[in-house]
Amino acid sequence: MSPPTKSNETSERFLEDDSIGHTTSSNVQPAEPVIVNGQERLATTTSDGELSFVGLIPPVDKGHGVASEERQDDGPPLSVRSTRKEPTNPVMAKLGEMMSNLHTDDNPDGIISLGVAENSLMAKEIKQFYGEAFGKYFREQDLTYGDSMFSSQRLTKSLVKFYNHYFQPYDKIEAGHIATGSGVYGTMNHLLHVLINPGEAILTSAPYYLGFDAMCTKRCGGVLVGVPMDIDADGWESEGDVETRMERAWKKCEERGLKVKVVIVTNPGNPIGRTRKAHPTDHRGTLLMNFPLSYFRSFFLPIVERDTLLAYCRFAEKRNLHLISDEIYALSVFDNPNLPNTVPFTSILNVDVERELGRTFSKKRLHVLHGMSKDFCSNGLRFGSLISQHNPECIRAVMSIALFMKVSSPADTLFYGLLSSPSPELSETSDTETTMTTIKSATDAINVSQPSEIGDSFAAWFVAENRRRLTDSATYMTQWFTDRGFKVYPANAGHFLWVDFADRVGWDTWSKELDGFHGVFERRVYIVRMNCL
Ligand SMILES: Cc1ncc(COP(=O)(O)O)c(C=O)c1O
Repeated sequence: MSPPTKSNETSERFLEDDSIGHTTSSNVQPAEPVIVNGQERLATTTSDGELSFVGLIPPVDKGHGVASEERQDDGPPLSVRSTRKEPTNPVMAKLGEMMSNLHTDDNPDGIISLGVAENSLMAKEIKQFYGEAFGKYFREQDLTYGDSMFSSQRLTKSLVKFYNHYFQPYDKIEAGHIATGSGVYGTMNHLLHVLINPGEAILTSAPYYLGFDAMCTKRCGGVLVGVPMDIDADGWESEGDVETRMERAWKKCEERGLKVKVVIVTNPGNPIGRTRKAHPTDHRGTLLMNFPLSYFRSFFLPIVERDTLLAYCRFAEKRNLHLISDEIYALSVFDNPNLPNTVPFTSILNVDVERELGRTFSKKRLHVLHGMSKDFCSNGLRFGSLISQHNPECIRAVMSIALFMKVSSPADTLFYGLLSSPSPELSETSDTETTMTTIKSATDAINVSQPSEIGDSFAAWFVAENRRRLTDSATYMTQWFTDRGFKVYPANAGHFLWVDFADRVGWDTWSKELDGFHGVFERRVYIVRMNCL
């Protein structure tokens, strides 16, 4: 992010904190390796076109990851890799505190979470469904290690139908193309473990999903490089000229001896990925909120266009990189009356890259991630899919470590039920009681030996109804903030609401915004700061 007004706050605090740099402060120094506790690290933050770096340059030759021989009074030390300090991000630092004291009906004085992408709009319905369906689908066999290293064979078959239906891949997806794990978080980390060597770099557009820091650096030892998005004529971020900015980042990495191996595109993007022209802004004090919709019904995030996807493909091919497309919000795309004429979601799997680019493209480099957390309001069940259609070696390598992240059989059972059960016959105007009764009738009608087609499944009803509620929520929440004099930037996918707080509460520098973040937290509300994405 590069707000012209938030300046002269350097990355020094990151160094003082003994941490690695972040995609946070503005006007910081370019990344330089620094020695912290005898280890070489990159430390900097992004701003004004500068890259951000998160990760460690591992002293591979000296035995990366080997426990230090230093004596400790209280026994042998833990490994270097588990004890080295990772980036201190003020938002992440408060996450654990928030989670252990979450506001609930039983804990009304707890912290209200507005900073985690959780969708509770369909929570009642999906809970009812899972409760009814579990008993129908759970088998004795589900008490064993199962019939596959990944998800059960029956779920994998359903996933094949599900992805072919909703992602419209150019090459049909087959069971052997899919590896599953406990959430996209874990699955992406496993994938990166397979794709990169410690110290190799991963490029992604900044601002980016906060979780990428850990996903790209922990265990696999990658260095995550945030490449600032373009600022358009109105001063708003967009994917813009992907090739130019990625190429520039690639060269900068090469100059400092960092080998780039992977580029990640998030589509629809968390938090921005904006390809359309947005409203003018100076970005000051702009906050991104992931509202649990039971509190403030809201939502957002933008979609990456086909041309942009092609630009990523061209860049990946030119520099011989793996291209990961994180499509976890694929089915949470909705109509937003405040944002007409938006592009529909296009999975990168839908693109016939060679024909559309008119040049060679190795599909071996393409890996797509999706999961059930967001589109099916089921974050806690932990399910993620990796789809790699032309790289069996990659799938095999992920399989060799698959048991570390195997989906539990209850979650496997519930997702199988979701994709295989009949849709409830409900209209948009059904009240809650009718909805619950109808869901019960639909689960009573489950015929375990005759799974529904995806288009007629409970999942299909859920996706459509969730989208409708997302529209309502986005509209409601936009109006709520607008009525109170806040500027809101509409989008049409995901769980995000972008609100400019600068004018209303005077958070017009990064440090004021950080103070604001802490102030709001003290009042027991957890939000995401714009400059900590
Ligand atoms: C872009 C993106 N990728 C991955 C994840 C992690 O999802 P999961 O719950 O499947 O681990 C999130 C969660 O917020 C996300 O926003």
